[in-house]
Amino acid sequence: MELREVIGRRRSMRYLRPYKPVEKEKIQRMLEAARIASHWGNVQSLRAVVVDKFTAPQEVVDALVAPIAGFQIRVAPVVIVWYLETAAVDEQGDRLRELLAAGALGYGEGKRDALESQIIPLFEGLLETLKEPGLGELDCGQGIAQATLMAFEQGLGTCLLGTPYGDQIKANLELPDTARVLCLQTVGYPAESPEAGGQRPRQPFEDLFHLNGFGKAFPRSPEVVEELTRDGMLTDPAPLPWREEELEYLRRALDLKGHGLV
Ligand SMILES: Cc1cc2nc3c(=O)[nH]c(=O)nc-3n(C[C@H](O)[C@H](O)[C@H](O)COP(=O)(O)O)c2cc1C
Repeated sequence: MELREVIGRRRSMRYLRPYKPVEKEKIQRMLEAARIASHWGNVQSLRAVVVDKFTAPQEVVDALVAPIAGFQIRVAPVVIVWYLETAAVDEQGDRLRELLAAGALGYGEGKRDALESQIIPLFEGLLETLKEPGLGELDCGQGIAQATLMAFEQGLGTCLLGTPYGDQIKANLELPDTARVLCLQTVGYPAESPEAGGQRPRQPFEDLFHLNGFGKAFPRSPEVVEELTRDGMLTDPAPLPWREEELEYLRRALDLKGHGLV
């Protein structure tokens, strides 16, 4: 599948097959994709604990809690707990030295001296600030996005779940003090159709993106829209006509209680 189609057909899949294990190799490919994502200063703060329901101790499974559409935790065969290791920031100097040695940062004769005398000291004053929520989360998000696309490309469905219970999960999983739980990601084989009801609503392009200053909408070419539609990136909007019937079918098949919102 071409990248455009991967981007366009990926959906948050809330309904997964609970009985079907996910091959370790497929999860590994997701983690490999996350590992090579960009991160400021090459700090690489993204970490994860993969919880496989078929092999994890019950107390580890019980440690996972999410308040919004939390039934997904019970249904998914695999849940990835993504977290940010703030201590990775402490190694910033070494990561920059590695970048320089790799030929990715700087050029010319004086680059090593400039790194040691100017850039690394500049970062050292900022390390504690850089551990606060901000750029690190952005970069972890890039890794998680790559893992998500890799999951989709392998026929898996995933949904990210935010949780205010990060500290509880951190304690239950005995993560280091320096960890900050970011989100949970359910992973499994989809129980729903690949369209999952269609392209979820998005705000108008022109309201989101600007050209040469705020308030001047970035022009949206209809030809490009047509091209991306042809390529499978822009797809029919949700809800597809049969979605409610599909939801009812899934509710029964997965024996789901209530309304699925909490
Ligand atoms: C960081 C993050 C946290 C999310 N948390 C939840 C959640 O707690 N429960 C849930 O059902 N969906 C959650 N979602 C999924 C979004 O609701 C979903 O992306 C949105 O409905 C759009 O659907 P799509 O991903 O198929 O385009 C989360 C998504 C992201 C990126």
